[in-house]
Amino acid sequence: MSERIFIGVAWPYANGPLHLGQIAGAYLPADIFARYHRLKGNDVLMVSGTDQHGTPITIRAEQEGLTPQEVVSKYHAQYLDVWDKLGISFDKYTSTGTENHAKVVGDLFLSLLEKDLIYPATAEYAYCANDRRFLPDRYVDGTCPHCSFERARGDQCDNCGRTLDPQDLLNWRCHICGNPPEMRESEHFFLRLSALQEKLHDWAKAVGEGIWRPNVYGFTMNWLTEGLRDRAITRDVEWGVPLPIPGYDTKRIYVWFEACIGYLSAALEWAESRGNNDEWLPFWKDTSTKAYYFLGKDNIPFHTIIWPAMLMGYGESGASLGAGGLNLPTNVPANEYLSLEGQKFSTSQNWAVWAPDYLERYEPDPLRYYLSANMPEFGDADFSWREFFRRNNDELVATYGNLVHRILTLTHRNFDGTVPEAGALNSDDKALIQKADDTLDDVASSLELPRFREAIGKAMALAGEANRYVDLKAPWKTAKDDKVRTATTLSTALYAISALKTVLYPFMPHASERLHALLGFTSEVTGNGWAVSPPPAGQTLQEPKPLFTKLDEEIVERETALLHAQSAG
Ligand code: MF3
Ligand code: ZN
Repeated sequence: MSERIFIGVAWPYANGPLHLGQIAGAYLPADIFARYHRLKGNDVLMVSGTDQHGTPITIRAEQEGLTPQEVVSKYHAQYLDVWDKLGISFDKYTSTGTENHAKVVGDLFLSLLEKDLIYPATAEYAYCANDRRFLPDRYVDGTCPHCSFERARGDQCDNCGRTLDPQDLLNWRCHICGNPPEMRESEHFFLRLSALQEKLHDWAKAVGEGIWRPNVYGFTMNWLTEGLRDRAITRDVEWGVPLPIPGYDTKRIYVWFEACIGYLSAALEWAESRGNNDEWLPFWKDTSTKAYYFLGKDNIPFHTIIWPAMLMGYGESGASLGAGGLNLPTNVPANEYLSLEGQKFSTSQNWAVWAPDYLERYEPDPLRYYLSANMPEFGDADFSWREFFRRNNDELVATYGNLVHRILTLTHRNFDGTVPEAGALNSDDKALIQKADDTLDDVASSLELPRFREAIGKAMALAGEANRYVDLKAPWKTAKDDKVRTATTLSTALYAISALKTVLYPFMPHASERLHALLGFTSEVTGNGWAVSPPPAGQTLQEPKPLFTKLDEEIVERETALLHAQSAG
C-alpha cells in the first residue's frame, strides 16, 4: 500500500554560501529519504525555502554593504543552483518573502491569538538612545559573564557556547554605535508555551520514545521536564513579516516563529503551482501521512517543541485553512555536526568548503557518497580531503565503478555488447541473485528508520560480494571454452549491477542514471521503482564508460592549501 510522506527541511538563512556541513546535516539526508520513498511509489512532498528574515540577514547586509533584500536575492539564487547541481530534489523550494507566506503566518497568528495562546505583554528590552532603536539580541556586544570572552553577543557567547540574554553581558555596548544601551519598555506578543507543556510532553513521549534518535529525544525531554517559558514572538525591527493586526507598524514577527510556518505555506504554494489548490490538504490533514523533518542539531527544539506547540495550538479550527487539525511531526531525524579537517566549520573565519566551490571542481556523486557513508547521524563526523580522495578512489572507483566496467567490457568483448541468455544457474549464481534481492529489502529497512550510513554500507557490501563472485567465476577464462557458463556469469553479474543501480539511486542519482543508460535503457532510471530490473537478454548495452573518475592524489594537498589560504583571508 502506498504511503504519503511529507518532508520538511530546515530553511537556510540567506546570509552566506552553503557549506558542506549544512549539506551533510540536512539537505542530503532529506534528499536520500525523498528519492527512496518516491522510488517505492510513495507520495512525497519535500519542501523548504530560503529563510530571509532575522538579524543574521541584516548583519550580513551591513557587512556586504547591501540591502537585506539584495543579500537575500543573491544567496537565494545561489542556493537554487546548488540544489540543481547537487541533485537535491525539492518539490517546492521557496522563500519566506512571498505574499502567500505572510498570509499563512498571519492566519496562524490570528488563530492562536483568538485562542489566547498568543497574548500581548510589556517587558523591558535593550534600547540604544543614540540610534533611537531597540536592539535585537545580536546587536548587543559585551563580555561574557561566564568565560570573560570580550566579543560575546546578546544571544550567545561564541567562545563558551552559552546562551545569553543581552543584559547578562558585562560592559555591554550597542553593536551599531558602541554606546551602552539602556532598558526600555516595549509591548510584544508571547506564545503561551507554558499552557501546552503537558500536552507536548505526552505527545513527544508517545511518538518519540524508542523511535526518535536518542539525542533528539533526550534533548526534547530535557527541555520539557525543565519547564517551558512563554516566548516573545515579535521584535522591534523593520525587516520581517508584519503583524496581521493594526497598530504595530514598527514591529515584525520573530523570524523563528514565521520560518517554521514556512513548512505549511510552502505546501500551499506547491499545491497552487500545480493548479490544484487543495492538493496540500492530505499532506497536512490526513492523519495517515507521515511527516519527517531534517535539520542540524542546533534546530532540534524548534522542531520538536515550538513548531509542534504552534500546530497543536492551531488545533481543530483553522481560519482560512479549513477544519481539521494539522499533522505533527512523526520523526525529526536531526543530524549532529560535520567538522572540517578536525575543526568546526566557521563562516566568520572562512573555515569551510563552500558548496558552490566544490561543485565547480568535482562531480556531485562522490560528495554525496562520502557524506552518506560518513554522515554525522549518531555523533559528529569529520570531512577531510584525504578521506574524500580515498573514498572516491578506493571505494567508489575500485569497488563499484570497476565492477560495472569489468562486466560491461566483458559483455562487449564476448557477446558484442548484447545481454546474453543465461544457462542453468548453479549455487554461486543463485547465491548472488539472492544477495541482490535481500539487499533491496535490507537497504529499505535501514532507510525507513532512517539510518543512512547503515543503508549505504549494506548497498556497497553487495558491490563487494559481486566483485568476489566475478573473481571466482573468472568469465575472461571461461570465455575461451564455455560460452554458456560465461553467459550465465555475466547475466548474473548484470543482475547484481542492476540491483546496485536501484539501491544506490537515492545516494547517487546521477551515477544510477548513467548506469541505467549504459545498460541500454532509454527509459527513466526511476521507471521501475524499488526493484531489480536487469536488462533483458538481447538488449544492446552502450559502449562502456567509467562511472566515476579516479582522482589524482595531488588534490589533497591542493585543496587543503586552498582551505588554509582562504581562512587566512
Ligand atoms: N534559518 C534557520 C537556520 O539556518 C533554520 C530555520 S528552520 C525553520 O538555522 F524551521 F524555521 F524553518
Ligand atoms: Zn547605538
